[in-house]
Amino acid sequence: MDAALRYAQANRDRFLTELKEFLSLPSVSTQEEHRPDIERTAAWLRDKLLAAGFPKAEVMPTAGHPIVYGEWPAAEPDRPTILIYGHYDVQPPEPLEEWHTPPFEPTVIGDDLFARGAADDKGQLYIHIKALESLQATDTPLPVNVKCIFEGEEESGSESLTPFIHDHADLLAADVAVISDTHILGPDTPSIVYGLRGLTYLEVEVVGPDHDLHSGTYGGAVLNPINALCRMIARLQDEDGHIAIPGFYDSVRPLTEEEREELARVPFDREAWLHEAGVTTDWGEPEYTIVERTSARPTLDVNGIWGGYIRPGAKTVLPSKAHAKISMRLVPDQRPEEIARLTEEYLTAIAPPAVRVTVHALHGGDGIVLDRHSPALEAASRAYEMAFGKRPVFTREGGSIPVVATFKRVLGIDSVLMGFGLPDDRIHAPNEKFHLPNFYRGIETVLYFLDFYGGTHK
Ligand code: BES
Ligand code: ZN
Repeated sequence: MDAALRYAQANRDRFLTELKEFLSLPSVSTQEEHRPDIERTAAWLRDKLLAAGFPKAEVMPTAGHPIVYGEWPAAEPDRPTILIYGHYDVQPPEPLEEWHTPPFEPTVIGDDLFARGAADDKGQLYIHIKALESLQATDTPLPVNVKCIFEGEEESGSESLTPFIHDHADLLAADVAVISDTHILGPDTPSIVYGLRGLTYLEVEVVGPDHDLHSGTYGGAVLNPINALCRMIARLQDEDGHIAIPGFYDSVRPLTEEEREELARVPFDREAWLHEAGVTTDWGEPEYTIVERTSARPTLDVNGIWGGYIRPGAKTVLPSKAHAKISMRLVPDQRPEEIARLTEEYLTAIAPPAVRVTVHALHGGDGIVLDRHSPALEAASRAYEMAFGKRPVFTREGGSIPVVATFKRVLGIDSVLMGFGLPDDRIHAPNEKFHLPNFYRGIETVLYFLDFYGGTHK
């Protein structure tokens, strides 16, 4: 491993140059006009796998965006197999005017690399390719069998991925999945995520009159669908954030005392957290801590709301339609389909007779809690300790990576969430960045992990 670690250090500048090239490809999965960029990015990634030493790497078409698949057998038989997952698509960069540097012109400022996708997930995905290249370039025998699967639809709901995993279960068979798409607590505070929230995402339409009306002529005698939608939304949740949908909490797996004690030990600075979020006070279920509320409790948020007149000036209209996008973060064992159904039933039940409500489920995913004592997590823990000089703490993440539950359900394997982002990376927001020392230490952590995990099953 020493030779590979030295190689990774000696080649940092080139690795960075390549990562900048990767980030300059605007692979926005939700915007149709970027489809050619998605294709180019997939081909670029395949070429990088081949260049890193993968004997097999290909772009595999799906009904949506292509999946990049690669395979590299270990030097000796009987080694465990890891399946590296990552996503090469990125969130839309908008609002553009808020970026200090252009989102697809990666720029290094100090120790940070700014670009859309820098941390989520291109920078983190690339760590694995460069770690493997470092083995190949130094003739270090590969300690595990490696398979990798990189998708291009994660930020838009992974619609093609689940059927792909079902259809290629043999191809993807592995002992564990390895995913770098989360963050650690600080540049010198490594952590391992062992829980993720699930998600239900709904779009709600409320229709009143069949065309827009003059609000003077009809107002007062025709129910305004925007007014109605606002009142319905207000009834989804109480002022402290408890969700009022009947049955919503029925399947929530309660937090054990042991887990609450452990989460209470996660280093957390409330003032720094408030500052980072740009708020003056926190909010939410008073009986749970901020760490618990943002990782181990289910939540509900309106993501967007529109209807009526929103351009400059006044227009006295009683609109025909109102819309909202609503997401709920879920915890084990809430099922996204079940929660979508309960929400639809409740919204339909509380809708005034004068309007018609339709609820459309966009996408979702299951939450998960992983075994903290598995051999793979133990190997990852030791690997972080080697690279960061500190044993990682275990945390639960509030965001969602639905493929983790899919891997468990379809392939029967657990995942190791080996993240290298930071809490203030501004993923999904303007001025996303990746902390470059984490990029380099990430490569080292992965090299140690491959070594330790390769040794566990001998
Ligand atoms: N990398 C994130 C997941 C994540 C979010 C990790 C926050 C750590 C902190 C991932 O790319 C993501 O954004 N997932 C979506 C999932 C959805 C589109 C199904 C999410 O959480 O909103
Ligand atoms: Zn991501």
